[in-house]
Amino acid sequence: MLLPLLAGFPAQAGDAIPFTPKWWLPEAASTFAHEVDNTFAVVYWLDVIFFAMIIAAMVLFTVKYRRRKEGQRTSPVKGNHALEFAWSFIPGVFLLVFFVMGFRTYMDMQVAPVDSMNIRVTGQKWNWSYEYPELGITMSGDDGLVVPAMTPVRLTITSVDVLHSFFVPDFRTKKDAVPNRYSTIWFEAMAPGEHPVYCAEYCGDGHSRMASKVTVLEPAKFKEWVASKKQASASMTSEEHGKQLFNSQGCAGCHSIDGTRIVGPSLKGKYGTTEQLADGSSVTIDDNYIHESLMSPGAKVVAGFAPQMPPYQGRLKDDEISALIDYIKTLN
Ligand code: CUA
Repeated sequence: MLLPLLAGFPAQAGDAIPFTPKWWLPEAASTFAHEVDNTFAVVYWLDVIFFAMIIAAMVLFTVKYRRRKEGQRTSPVKGNHALEFAWSFIPGVFLLVFFVMGFRTYMDMQVAPVDSMNIRVTGQKWNWSYEYPELGITMSGDDGLVVPAMTPVRLTITSVDVLHSFFVPDFRTKKDAVPNRYSTIWFEAMAPGEHPVYCAEYCGDGHSRMASKVTVLEPAKFKEWVASKKQASASMTSEEHGKQLFNSQGCAGCHSIDGTRIVGPSLKGKYGTTEQLADGSSVTIDDNYIHESLMSPGAKVVAGFAPQMPPYQGRLKDDEISALIDYIKTLN
């Protein structure tokens, strides 16, 4: 019953995510979505029928066999083997049907076709990043995931901090992102379009903002997109590279660039200024401070903010740190 409820989950104001509230299940946009819906429908409607039958029998018997006189015995029945067999056997058959339907769908969803395209999905507080190892492309949570239609795609999902869960309701697919573990799911999107992605595991105060989207393109359009993406990254300046990292590495989830306070301090106009620290001392925001804050964020925490940032030691290369510094300078 969770899926119908989630289908009515409101997107936030200003979200770039396409969203049409629906009374029942969300759009079925992957090849196995209908299989999942059918299994759900069989279980659901059989439950509705049995619920109605049981309640009706209960009401009927309560009226028909009520005690009319003081001391009257209402039920002379001691036992009925045929009836007992029937009410065990028939539900047993239904349970077997549920099992076979559920198991077949589950296996279809677990085992990706061998020729699947591989994408790495990384969850972190509070965005998703997408990497295409075979194509040499990295995407940020803001751009979302881009995939070709009618092509099986295998996602290898992990997390760099806490538990998250990658959930695409329209594809009927969901998998936990667990630190230090890789889990996989796959899907084949049927037609071009856009579909919302949610984090389905409470991961802290930015959890509800951890939304993204999947954009499905025609295979030919997808090839064009890959080519343009590669060209763009080849001709990028250090500032542009820094901006891309700022979005893809999750910085934007906590640090605004327009002065708004999110989780951490805004970085607008901060380069070169002096900041009060939690321990009462102060520090100048320069290259060294940015470098130190990326490597060990807990070292010098700005007053009024909690030390929540994950360390980027080992996750950013030197040229990427320089690119981020160059980008932060442009925010002045
Ligand atoms: Cu990530 Cu909830």
